[in-house]
Amino acid sequence: MKVTAIIPAAGMGTRMGTDRPKQLIELDGQPILAHTLQAFDDCDSVEDVILVVSKDIFGFCSQHILPRFHKVDKVVFGGEKRQDSVFRGLKAARDDTEIVVIHDGSRPFITPEQITCSIDLCGKTRAVVTAMPVKDTVKSVANGLVERTLDRSGLWLTQTPQTFCFALIWKAYRKAYQEGYYATDDSALVERLGTKVAVLTGSYQNIKITTLEDLAVAQVILEDKKRKEHKASP
Ligand code: C5P
Repeated sequence: MKVTAIIPAAGMGTRMGTDRPKQLIELDGQPILAHTLQAFDDCDSVEDVILVVSKDIFGFCSQHILPRFHKVDKVVFGGEKRQDSVFRGLKAARDDTEIVVIHDGSRPFITPEQITCSIDLCGKTRAVVTAMPVKDTVKSVANGLVERTLDRSGLWLTQTPQTFCFALIWKAYRKAYQEGYYATDDSALVERLGTKVAVLTGSYQNIKITTLEDLAVAQVILEDKKRKEHKASP
C-alpha cells in the first residue's frame, strides 16, 4: 500500500504572538516542525511526505530542515486556510497514492506507533480520525449567556493524524470546493459524503501548539517523555 503523509504547516501562527512563525519555534533545540517530521521519518508505514509551508518559511525549511528528512518528497506552498493548504498537498500526491495521512505540522508529539495504528485502521475502514474524549463540561454559549449544557459522554476532541483512502478524501475535497464548504478538519468533509469515519483514541499529549501557554505545556510533555525514555533505556 502506498502511503503518503501530508503535513500542513503553512499557518501564520498569529495566536502565538511571537516574531517567528510557530512551526520554527524551538523545542529542545529543534524547530517544532522538525519534531513532527522526525516522527514520520521514523514511521516505516509511511513512504513519503508532502510538506505544505508558507512562502515565509520556505527558504529556512529548504536550508535547515529538509536536508535532514529523507521522506519529504515535495514541498508545496499553502493557501489561505488550512483546508486550502491540505488541498494543495492532495493535488501534489503521486498518482499511485492509496492512503493519505494528514497531520498538523504543529503537533510535534505524535509517535510513529500512533501513525501506524491510524494507517492500519484506515486499511479496514477507509477513514479514520484520531480523537480524545472531552474531559470538561461543554456549554453552548451565545452573547455571553449559556444556551445549553451538552452531554459530554458522546463528545470527543479531534486531533490529527486523520487518515483516508486517497480516492475518498479526494472526492470529499472536490465536493467541498464545488459547494464552497469549509471545515476545520478533514474528517468533516468525508462525513458530508455520508461516509462513516472510524475514531481512533489518540493521546492527551498530542497537543497542537497554538499559543504561548501551549508552548509551556509542550516543554513539560517533552521533559516527561525524556524521563520515560531515560528510564526505559538499559
Ligand atoms: O489553524 P490551525 O490551528 O487549525 O492549524 C493547524 C495546522 O494547519 C497547523 O500546522 C498550521 O500550520 C496549518 N495551516 C496551514 N495553512 C493555513 C492554516 C493552517 O497549513 N492556511
